[in-house]
This record gives sequence, C-alpha cells and structure tokens, in this order.
Amino acid sequence: MRKCTVLLTVCLLLGGFSLFGENQQDDQPETNLLVLNADLGRETINKNIYGHFSEHLGRCIYRGFWVGEENPIPNTRGIRNDIVEALKKIQIPVLRWPGGCFADEYHWKDGIGPRSNRPTMINTHWGGVTENNHFGTHEFMDLCAQIGAEPYVCGNVGSGTVQEMQEWIEYMTFDGISPMADLRRKNGQEQPWALTYFGVGNENWGCGGNMTAEFYADVYRRYQTYVRNLSGNRIYKIACGGYGDNYHWTDVLMREAGRMMNGLSIHYYTGPDYSLSRSATEFEEAEWFDVLNKAGRIDGIITRHTSIMDRYDPRKRVGLIVDEWGTWYSVEPDTNPGFLYQQNSLRDALVAALTLNIFNSHCGRIKMANLAQTVNVLQALILTEKDKMILTPTYHVYDMFKVHQDAILIPQQLTCKNYTYEDSDIPAISASASRDKEGKIHISLCNLDPHNSQEIICEIRGVEFLKVNGRILTADKINAFNTFEKGDVVIPENFQGAKIDKGNVVVELPAKSVVVLEITG
Ligand code: AHR
Repeated sequence: MRKCTVLLTVCLLLGGFSLFGENQQDDQPETNLLVLNADLGRETINKNIYGHFSEHLGRCIYRGFWVGEENPIPNTRGIRNDIVEALKKIQIPVLRWPGGCFADEYHWKDGIGPRSNRPTMINTHWGGVTENNHFGTHEFMDLCAQIGAEPYVCGNVGSGTVQEMQEWIEYMTFDGISPMADLRRKNGQEQPWALTYFGVGNENWGCGGNMTAEFYADVYRRYQTYVRNLSGNRIYKIACGGYGDNYHWTDVLMREAGRMMNGLSIHYYTGPDYSLSRSATEFEEAEWFDVLNKAGRIDGIITRHTSIMDRYDPRKRVGLIVDEWGTWYSVEPDTNPGFLYQQNSLRDALVAALTLNIFNSHCGRIKMANLAQTVNVLQALILTEKDKMILTPTYHVYDMFKVHQDAILIPQQLTCKNYTYEDSDIPAISASASRDKEGKIHISLCNLDPHNSQEIICEIRGVEFLKVNGRILTADKINAFNTFEKGDVVIPENFQGAKIDKGNVVVELPAKSVVVLEITG
C-alpha cells in the first residue's frame, strides 16, 4: 500500500516535487498516524518564521497603523493603540518595511524631520496616490518598539544610489559623530537604533529594476559592500531572491554572491485560477481545493531551493527568507484595485496553518518568513474601518501557533488519508510539532477536508506525558469570516476532541479545522 509517507520520501528524493497538485490515485491508509520522536530534534524553529510585512500600500500604513497624533482614534505618537495591543498578543518577532515594490522607489531622507516639511511623492505601484512621507524611519522604529518586534528594513536598489543606502545605515546605526548620526540626533533620536535585518532591494527581477539574476548578483555585491556594521551593530544582509520556482535566480545568487549574504529571499503568493472565483469570501469547494493545493506546493518549492543552497552552503549558514507570502484574491467590491484590500476567511486560516507547518518543517534552512501584509492588505491579520478593528481568522492562527516560536522541531512521520476533490487529491492532514524550553510539546494540525472529520493517532515517543489540552479554529462554512458587525464568527475555542488512549494521543479533527495541542507531563 502506497501511503503519503512513502510518497513524501520519493518526492524529497526527487527534490522539488510535493504531494500537492498531483493526481495520486493511491490506496488510502486505514488510519491517520503521526509518529513523533519527542526526545530527538536538533533544529530550532526560528521565531522569525512568525514575522510580518507592512508596505506603504493601500491602508496598511496610512489609515492602518498610522492615524497621526491629532486623530481621535486612541494612538501613541500617531500609531493606533488597538493594533499595537493585538500584535503584542501574538508576539510578532520581526516586521519588514517599507516594501515591497515601494521600497525601490522610497527615498528615506524624504521621511525624516518635521512632518510638515517632508516632501510628497507618487506611490506609482499602489494606486498612484500621493504619499506624504509622514510615516518614515523614526515612526517605523517607534512602531517596532511599541509592538516588541525587530525591524527588518528593505533598501532601495532599483532607483536609489549606493550612497543613499550607505547613509541610511549610518543614520540608523552609528553612535559617533558623523553627518548622518548628527542629523538623526537633530531629528530627536539621540541613540542609534538596533537594526539587524536589512534587505538589499526587493523583487529586483521585476518592480525593483527588471534585472537579470546575473546583473543583480553583481549589483548586490556592490551595494552590500556599503551596508556596514557600525558601532557594534551587526547586520544580517538579505539578498533579493526569485519568485516561486525561479531556481535559476537562487543558483546564480548563491554561486556569485552567497558568501556575501546572510539570507536569500523568495516570494510566493497563492491565488485561485482565473477560471475560478477570485473573491476572498464568495467561493465554492473548487476554489477551496485550488487554493489549499497551491498553498501546499510551497513545500516542494522550498525543498528545491534548499537543495540548491545546500550545494553552495552545506552548513546552512545562509538562511532562506520567505519575506513575502500569503493569499492574493480580487479586492473587495468598491475598493481601490491598487489597495489590495481583501477579506479573510476560514480558507485563509487553513492556508496560514498549512504554510506555517511547512515552514516549521524546513526550519533548518528557513530563518524568517513575513506574511503579506499585516493590516488591511492581502492576507491581513487585522482589518480596520475608521475606529473599528477586527481580527481575521489568520490572526487567530498566529495566536495559536506562537507556541512554536524558538522551540525545537520534533522529527515526525505522518501517514494520512487524502482529501479528494473531483479527480485530484492532496493529503487531508498537515502537522508539525515542537518542544519548548519548559519541555511542553505542541502539535499543530489541520484538516483540509471540508466534509469529513479525521481521527489521527499521535504516537509520541521518548517522553512521559499525562495531559493534553488544545484550541481549535473552525466554522460552519468554508467561507466564514469576521465582519465589523460580528467579529467573532471565526475565533479559537477550547478543543475537547483529544484524549490519551493506550499511551497515544488520539485526536478527532473536525472537517476544515486547525487545532493546536499542548501536551504536558
Ligand atoms: O505585497 C504586495 C507586492 O507583492 C509587493 O510590493 C511586491 O514585492 C510583490 O510583488
């Protein structure tokens, strides 16, 4: 009997193929089984895998995070308090800014000094609106400090100079006497900020300058030379990577510039086929299956990028940084098409959970990932309408999964049934597990099948345990979502469907659900 574990091994050997999207036509195993070697495991799930991305796009920054100091919406130095509180709760570790495509048009000096003196610009990529530069470096650093996240700043390669990038680093991180450090002090920030993560351009194969991999590799080598470690600050340099399955880009960058980088990015978005409904909330099972199938393909894509990186960097010094990912649908009716404002349903929660399980399982190479985008854009955690705010189903997944941050990945073997739609099938269950510093074990599970519950036996080897608790995120309908009128349609609840039986944890996973279990001694 061929089971999904056997297929998984074959797929890994082939490098780059995943279980998703193939017509497997396999015999189904009789039982779903997850074997966890809980006393083993050496790799840490870097907390930055739970990172986020916020661009000057639509209502992410302006009328999202930033309302300005004079606004009646409660704020601290112009940044909305309710958003800060919500993000603190899920412990977002790192926030990427200012883009995206915006980054390669952004000139940081326009965003410092008294706000009334800051020049405006056109945000050409995102709706052609006027950007007033009221949210700049100081405001971003304040936002990160308020939410407790580390900043990840993306520099301008496409339309910026080496000098401009060099001076931005000096402005942010130098604590001696220098033109840029003095300017920072004049603008009210005496101490330099701690800045670890810096991206040298964004999508430089597209909106960031339409470069070839070969050309960008040289450009990267030049720009990164001037991204210096000043005053004891150490920068983790991230080179722009390819999109999805652009393995050539990874190969060229690793070959030509691998030793000059700490991380190499990739981007991967998931949206339904154009022949299907592209609405975030009005869809049927065809779109449910299509989106989950495509989301799952990132597994094979990461495997293949990893194998290329392994050739040049077998010790895994260079991190793979998935600094943009998430769902991308049509915008909500009557909203600016350039603002990428979309609702967020239970389907997005399943995409998030499935993807985070995949990232966890690749934590030997993936050192950061940033969901696009935190507020009001694409697969957002938070949606706002004037003074109202809702938490999306995706937000709740991050809340449930935060237990994996900086925990040890537990090696696993999953054997599961398929979820079949018409003549295609994908594994019905996705899982990952970790052991935290206190020895607690957390297992995150999703059942992608919208019709059938799945019983899964979790055989946990190597540890004694007595108790299992859990939380579940599900809803009546596949397209259930939270609204400004009713924000609690899709929220986590206590889960009663796990029990200890004959030394195993036996879980009844409801259809279309995400469950996170905590197992303690
Ligand atoms: O997240 C929206 C856009 O998607 C980003 O600006 C760009 O990098 C990507 O194409």
